Amino acid sequence: MPSKASNFSNKCNDIKNRKKANDVILTPPLLAIAHIEYVKPLTRKTYTWFDPFKNTGIYYNNYPVEEKQKKWTEILLNKDFFEFNEKVDVIVTNPPFSIINKVFEKFWELKPKIISLLIGVLNLTSKRIDDMKQHGYKLVQLKLCCVNEWFGSQYIVTFERNSKRRQTIDFDRKTYYARDIQKTAITKKIEPENYEPIQIEPDDLSKYDFVEKK
Ligand SMILES: C[S@@+](CC[C@H](N)C(=O)[O-])C[C@H]1O[C@@H](n2cnc3c(N)ncnc32)[C@H](O)[C@@H]1O
Repeated sequence: MPSKASNFSNKCNDIKNRKKANDVILTPPLLAIAHIEYVKPLTRKTYTWFDPFKNTGIYYNNYPVEEKQKKWTEILLNKDFFEFNEKVDVIVTNPPFSIINKVFEKFWELKPKIISLLIGVLNLTSKRIDDMKQHGYKLVQLKLCCVNEWFGSQYIVTFERNSKRRQTIDFDRKTYYARDIQKTAITKKIEPENYEPIQIEPDDLSKYDFVEKK
């Protein structure tokens, strides 16, 4: 029987050698909501929030501001993040990892006050933190969290531009389950007007994911 360590290294190799990246991974709604709540105290009511990678809108739909203060892009809905040039204050999202360096460069061009990402622990390298620093962004929040079906653990990492804030390190004791939520993902290009959103009411969340205390 293969050991845990060899399972881990096989999985790392599979990811490293795969031909086609899988960038359409939906965040469990309760984790997206917890992520937004974590960042909210760093923001002002007047800020504009932006989800560059909206897909079904798990983040976008839960941003704590009015519709006119929200922006989005999503390549599968024919709005490319790399063509977006409006002023925004807060980016809170789960980005596509196969193009993460290019995504960081575009963030620096847009210059939001806050950039907060759900990112695999192995993807938050010291080089990336340093690059952020070079562009004026201080790492202010780091929270460890775990999604049962995902590879490894995740960080919620928040960077703030020109920040004087102290850093906080935290961890989430819950395990989030992605389960059926992935079935609702947009996986092929469609026009925005052909997208019929699946609204997830707070009472229905248990159909889509579960949170268990360890
Ligand atoms: C990891 S998924 C996150 C989806 C959603 N934000 C969530 O958390 O459930 C990343 C999304 O980025 C989208 N994407 C990839 N490249 C993009 C681009 N250039 N512009 C806009 N969206 C892009 C993918 O289609 C995918 O839906």
